[in-house]
Amino acid sequence: MNGNGILRAGRLELRVFDLEKSVDYYKNVIGLDVTAQDENRVYFKAWDEFDHHSLILQKSDSAGMDHMAFKVADHAALELLEYKIEQFGCKLSRISNRTRIAEGEAIRFQIPTGHYVELYTDIEHLGIATGSVNPDPWPDGLRGIAPHRLDHALLVGDDVKTTTRFFTEILGFKQSEKILSVDGEQMIGSFLTTTNKAHDIAFIKGPDAKLHHVGFYVDNWYEVLKAADILSKNKVEVEITPTRHGITRGQTVYFFDPSGNRNEAFASGYMTYADFPTITWTEDQIGAGIFYHRRELVESFNLALT
Ligand SMILES: [Fe+2]
Repeated sequence: MNGNGILRAGRLELRVFDLEKSVDYYKNVIGLDVTAQDENRVYFKAWDEFDHHSLILQKSDSAGMDHMAFKVADHAALELLEYKIEQFGCKLSRISNRTRIAEGEAIRFQIPTGHYVELYTDIEHLGIATGSVNPDPWPDGLRGIAPHRLDHALLVGDDVKTTTRFFTEILGFKQSEKILSVDGEQMIGSFLTTTNKAHDIAFIKGPDAKLHHVGFYVDNWYEVLKAADILSKNKVEVEITPTRHGITRGQTVYFFDPSGNRNEAFASGYMTYADFPTITWTEDQIGAGIFYHRRELVESFNLALT
């Protein structure tokens, strides 16, 4: 938890075209469990997550991210954050109790890059699939990639600098890494953490309100390789085969869901602490920062946004 009471990345709501096809993909290829559904939304959790859901799919005529939400420690922290966010000048609204299945009230606001972010504290607890008394290391019957958790999102928008200021000064996040223009004047990328992970949310400069990818956490390099095997076996489009990130030092494979939303199976990455010094990359080295082995970007990686 950071000093402002934000515990972690809690959930993310994605817009998808074909709900049935998307549920089949997130259930059987990604390997999440369906925990609830209504007419237009399906709720999922990963086997190692204890809250009711971490991913919501919303049937829509456009792909992309509806919002990303962070779980807050309690109502007092939520109220204080609501005040600070309004003072900063963000447009904010309240989401009433039970608007979403198994959830209490939330606050929803628009950040400078045009994305919607929510903060909430009350959500039903389902527990992890192995139980919490003398648990085995993993449950029987896992399907697909079977990640431990929703890990992070990379979002695209123009004003990365002000957005970073909002996340650090108002929400209490730390910046683990930044990408600067060679002259040091512009912030091209920003990686932000509210836990001891390398990133919980990140931003890269580009058109406002776009989603670059949603990352799911797997254990290690072998699990990233196995994820790529599972994707190929299921004829899922793999954009970037398994490799290493310079930024975060994570291991990665990138692919697309049936609506064109980019997903990532992400492993490892260093740990951060409250006094972690921000790492700087310069724009001329962004290729190695993103794909450490090939040291250059892939054209589709900049273009395919939802
Ligand atoms: Fe990522």
